[in-house]
This record gives sequence, structure tokens and C-alpha cells, in this order.
Amino acid sequence: MEVEVRVLVTGGAGYIGTHVLAVLQMGKHDIFVADDFSNSSPSNLEQVVKASGRSVPFFNVDIRDTETLTNAMLSFKPEIVLHLAALKDAAESVTIPMKYIEVNVSGTVSLLRAMEASGCDGMVYSSSAAVYGEPKYLPLDEEHPCQPVSPYGESKWLAERIVTVWAKAREDRKAILLRYFNPIGKDPAGRIAPIQRNRTFNVMDHIMRVAKGDRKRMDIFGSTYATADGSGMRDFIHVQDLAEAHAAAVSRLPSVSGAEIINVGAGEGHTVIELIETFETATGHRIRRRVRPPRAGDIGASWSDTGKAARVLGWQARRNLMDICRSATPARYRPKRQAPASRAPSGEIGAHP
Ligand SMILES: NC(=O)c1ccc[n+]([C@@H]2O[C@H](COP(=O)([O-])OP(=O)(O)OC[C@H]3O[C@@H](n4cnc5c(N)ncnc54)[C@H](O)[C@@H]3O)[C@@H](O)[C@H]2O)c1
Repeated sequence: MEVEVRVLVTGGAGYIGTHVLAVLQMGKHDIFVADDFSNSSPSNLEQVVKASGRSVPFFNVDIRDTETLTNAMLSFKPEIVLHLAALKDAAESVTIPMKYIEVNVSGTVSLLRAMEASGCDGMVYSSSAAVYGEPKYLPLDEEHPCQPVSPYGESKWLAERIVTVWAKAREDRKAILLRYFNPIGKDPAGRIAPIQRNRTFNVMDHIMRVAKGDRKRMDIFGSTYATADGSGMRDFIHVQDLAEAHAAAVSRLPSVSGAEIINVGAGEGHTVIELIETFETATGHRIRRRVRPPRAGDIGASWSDTGKAARVLGWQARRNLMDICRSATPARYRPKRQAPASRAPSGEIGAHP
């Protein structure tokens, strides 16, 4: 098979990374993963292998270890890096901000150094709508000022700036900075259900915990926001749509000049109550709920302007809230036992015949 692009995916064993891998593996790209499995498991890559029928070579490496990362990159020689590895819990980042700076900012610097040493000139960076902070207008376009409200958001913003400086330093360098809105749901075919060690739950995980009986009811934080039902409103994007945006970014990267910031959302807002009710319709599960006071730093409503994604990437979200809820049904959610990170040397998860 003729290889199109050699792609390194940092954080490829994580929630979004596994979905991205499964999509990229359908093309002709040659892919390898760099992950320390601090919030995932090598068995997540097994799921990708089963889904795609192709093996997934990986390096068990902390992105802050520049020397090991450089050696890995010198042996694989990627043309593009998809940089997903990061810590992502905004609430946790308030209590341990320096860890977020170390992994998300210093880790990105370390990766850029390894890219320099191995002659890799292209990056697609996983950023977040958290860089915008409290919306001054809606929908949020890429020109909206960035005033993050959490150390997590700050770390993603700082890393964005560093990647931009790196990309603009030389004409042959290119970067696309994807600002994800609220990815939820799972692989529509039910093949990918990655383990997350740190139990950082997104809103769909909370709904699922109630649906599975692990929690009695779902907490809804805030009931007086300026939305139709008073609950918070977000731009929920199907993780499969998000994964497909990465395939589009890999294709478009060569024609980008410098660093390009692109929102990746569904382009419309839905409230948390709307999401719960759609889940109930989609699955037949009744989700008991209770209203709690809003949490510090929570934003009432946020959704994206996706015009630039359509123009630059030729991409737009194709799946709706009902598709998201169907993809996350409990029958398809089969968590596996966690393998200890120390037992995961670098290697290759092979394709099963
Ligand atoms: N999930 C979301 O809601 C969301 C929203 C916006 C942006 N993002 C961004 O998307 C990216 C992926 O998020 P996710 O939800 O898949 O998170 P995740 O925690 O599921 O995946 C991150 C992966 O990176 C790995 N990792 C963490 N620190 C590492 C390190 N120092 N060295 C090597 N690997 C390391 C983890 O083991 C994990 O496999 C992150 O950059 C995150 O900031 C996520």
C-alpha cells in the first residue's frame, strides 16, 4: 500500500486519540502513537487494531522526555504530528496548576524540540474552546478574544502561542490549531470504548453512570442561565465528527501558511437538559436529575461559528444530538480491566487475523 503521510499521534491511546486513530487507519497513512498511558491503557490501542484491522506501533513515552521522544521520532520519521497528549481536567487544574503547565506547556515545547531534531515540520494541535473564556458574543468565532478562566485553559492558550511562534519561525513549517468544543459520544460502530484512568467525566459519562445505575441521579449545575430551560448550553460535537476533522486537517496542512486556528464544533448550542432528554428518547433510560448551584467558573452558554472549518478544512459536523446519544448507549459501553502502565513497554499492537 502506498503511504500518504507518516503521522505521529501523541496521546493516541486517549478518548479522542483512539477515535482519531480509527479514522486515520481507514486511509493510507502510516501511523504511530506516543503515549505514557497516564490516562489510558495499551488495551485502548487493541480496540483500534480490532476496528481497523491494522497494527498500531507505539512508544510508551512521556512527551516531556525530549531525548526518548527524539529517538522515537528519528526512527519513525513522521512528517506530521497530531499533538493530543495533555491533561484536561479544568477543575483539577485549579488545585495543581503547575502540573498542567508542565505537561501541557513544557510537554509541547519538548515535543517541538524533538520535531526540530528529527526534521518534522507539521503539527495539528489539539486546543480547546476553553481558551476563549466567558463569551463576549455568540457564536464564538476564531477572532473572539482569549481570556481563559482556568489554568487548564491558560495552558492550552500558552501552548497555542508557542506552536504559533514555532510555525512562523520558518517558511516550511505549518500548524493547524483545532479548538475543540464539547466532544462526547463514542464510535458509532461501538468498537471503541477507551479506558480512562483518571475518571475525568464529561457530561455524557455522567449521564451514562446514572443509566448504568452507578449513580442515583445526575447533578445539573445551574438553572437560571439565559437559556430556554435555564441549564447551561454547550456545543456538543460527536467525537466521530471531531475525529474526521483531524483527517481533513492532515490533508489540508500542506496548503496552510504559518499557523491557522480553526474551531471544531457542531455550530449549535444544546442545553444539558436537552441532552438528557434526547438520551432518554434514544435509549429508553430514565435519567433522574437534581439541580445544584452553578460551579465557580462555569459559563452559561457557548457555541461555535464553524464557517472557517468549512472554508479551510472542507469539513463540518454531520451527526446530531440523537446520533451522539445512540452511540453512547450502555449496551455498547464495555469497560475493560485496567492494565498497569508500568507493564506497557513500547512495541506494536498487531493486527488480528
Ligand atoms: N475531551 C474534551 O472534552 C476536550 C475538549 C477540548 C480539548 N481537548 C483536548 O484534546 C486532547 C485529548 O483529550 P482527551 O479527551 O482524549 O484526553 P485523554 O486524557 O483521554 O487523552 C490524553 C492522552 O494523553 C496521554 N498523556 C497525558 N499526559 C502525557 C504525557 N506527559 N506524555 C505522553 N502522553 C500523555 C494520556 O495517557 C492519554 O492517553 C487534549 O489535548 C485535550 O486538552 C479535549
